[in-house]
Formats: sequence, structure tokens, C-alpha cells
Amino acid sequence: MKDAADKPTPTLTDRQFHTLSAIARRRWGLDMPNAKRGLVSARASRLMRRLGYASLDQLCEELDAPESSIDPLQLFDVLSTNHTSFFREPEHFRVLVREIIQPAVDQGKREVKLWSAGCSNGAEPYTMSIAAREAEVGGHAPNLRILATDLSLSILARAKRAVYPVTALKDLEPGLIARHFQPESVNGADAREYAVREHVKAPVTFALLNLLEPWSMRGPFDAIFCRNVMIYFDGPTKHALVDRFVQLIRPGGLFFVGGSETLNNSLRPDLENVQANVYRKRLGAKT
Ligand SMILES: C[S@@+](CC[C@H](N)C(=O)[O-])C[C@H]1O[C@@H](n2cnc3c(N)ncnc32)[C@H](O)[C@@H]1O
Repeated sequence: MKDAADKPTPTLTDRQFHTLSAIARRRWGLDMPNAKRGLVSARASRLMRRLGYASLDQLCEELDAPESSIDPLQLFDVLSTNHTSFFREPEHFRVLVREIIQPAVDQGKREVKLWSAGCSNGAEPYTMSIAAREAEVGGHAPNLRILATDLSLSILARAKRAVYPVTALKDLEPGLIARHFQPESVNGADAREYAVREHVKAPVTFALLNLLEPWSMRGPFDAIFCRNVMIYFDGPTKHALVDRFVQLIRPGGLFFVGGSETLNNSLRPDLENVQANVYRKRLGAKT
């Protein structure tokens, strides 16, 4: 007998695709063009099987019901793209150290506050923590506080667990791995997984947050990373979000977007482009 997982993936009909893309846009600002229908079909089918629905029609009807029994975050979990890595766009972390961390060390600043918005499995906020730690050697260490938020429950659980397969560290220097990761070896065999060390984890606080809903956190932040998140949002959603981020950055603080992103259409007079994908809130701009 064939397992359900072996059955060919059904493709969403126009109506079903419209239902799911309308939910994704309304709740999370996700833009799902028709070109993504194959991918969305595969992911919706996975959810259908996981929740025990007999057809995509039944699943879509239940998800769209005013008092749906399905937590919408279960749909978000399968629709969202969580691709990330340690030191992704390494230049961004050099800029963070040069412009924010090192001056804070030199000036004896008491606290540095960073936000990784759309933090995925934690590689981004842990890289911030590692980069800051590496910059401290021999100097004064400001109290580092890193807020890391995402809307995917499963990915946040992985981020908090902070254990990664050895393949996730393949581009890192051995010395850096030794300083900031602990091999998890079983019976003396070569470690297949590495745990982030306590000193890297300590400054990071994870929280569930839908970027489209009101935020309760208080600024100002010295730097905010929102990389490879807004690419999935439509123009007006992105524009409104950039406004809200900038309000929470201190004058002189930095805003980082993903390697393939620009703020061209959302650039505001109080932001200047420092270098590719990095923006500074102008000194003198209101917090
Ligand atoms: C492609 S990952 C980027 C991870 C990391 N910032 C990086 O650049 O490596 C995008 C993340 O944004 C999160 N995300 C997407 N829409 C969101 C929303 N409306 N609110 C909060 N997080 C969201 C996803 O769950 C996902 O983990």
C-alpha cells in the first residue's frame, strides 16, 4: 500500500490559491505571485496531511472560516521561507563592528541594543553576538542586548535550542568555531552537531512577533537587521514597515536589509545610504 506522502502533490485550484494568498497577504503581508503556485501547493499539501484533512478544498475552507479551528500560524509555518546562515553577507557584520560595536567599546558606552527582525533559526542574531564578542578582545565590553523575533513557532524553537549541524558551520574559521561553539559528540565520534556556547546565547532574547502587527518593544536600537524578510512583502507593506523601523533607530544608528534588497522606493529624508544594503539614520533626525 502506498503511503500518503508518496501520492502526487495536488495543485491548488485558482480558488484555493486565491484563498491562501489572500490570507497570507492580509495576515502577514506575504506576496504570493501565481508563479509560486507549485511551491505553495506542495506546502499546503504537507499541512493538509499533517492535520489530517482529506482534500485541499477542505483545508482551504477551514483556514478561511471566521472561527477556524486551525491556528493560522500553522499555515505561516509551512508558507514562510526560512533560509539563513551564519555570517550571511559577512560585510554587514564588519560594518556592524566598525560603526556600532567598536565605537561603543572605545567610548565606554554602557549598552548596545540590536534587533534581528525575521531572525529565522537564530544564525543571524548569534552571528551579531559572535561578531561583537570578537571585537571586544582586550577592550571594555558594553552590555549587549539582542532582540531576535520571528513569526514561525517551529523556527523559533530551533533558534532557542541553538544546536546546528556541522554543515551550517562549514564556512567559518576553525578558531572561531572553537571559541563560540561546543561540539556535541556521541561516544567520542566526530561531532555532527554543534551547540552555540552560553556566552553567545546570553545577550539574545527571542520573541514571537508578527511584523505587521503593533510592536511593544521600546527603542532606540543602535542597529536593526531586517534582511531577506521584506522581499516577500508588497510595496505599501514594506514602505510602512521601513517607517516603523526607522522610528525605533537612534540617530546615527544603522538599518540593514538583505543583499538583494534596496530601499529605493522607501527611502526617506532621514535615512542615508552608507553602502550596499546599509542605511544610517541621520544625526539630528528625531528618534
Ligand atoms: C528568509 S528568512 C531571513 C532570515 C535572516 N534575516 C537572514 O537574512 O538570514 C525570512 C524570515 O522572516 C520571517 N517572516 C516573514 N514574514 C514575517 C512576518 N510578517 N513577521 C515576522 N517574521 C516574518 C520568516 O518566518 C523567516 O524566518
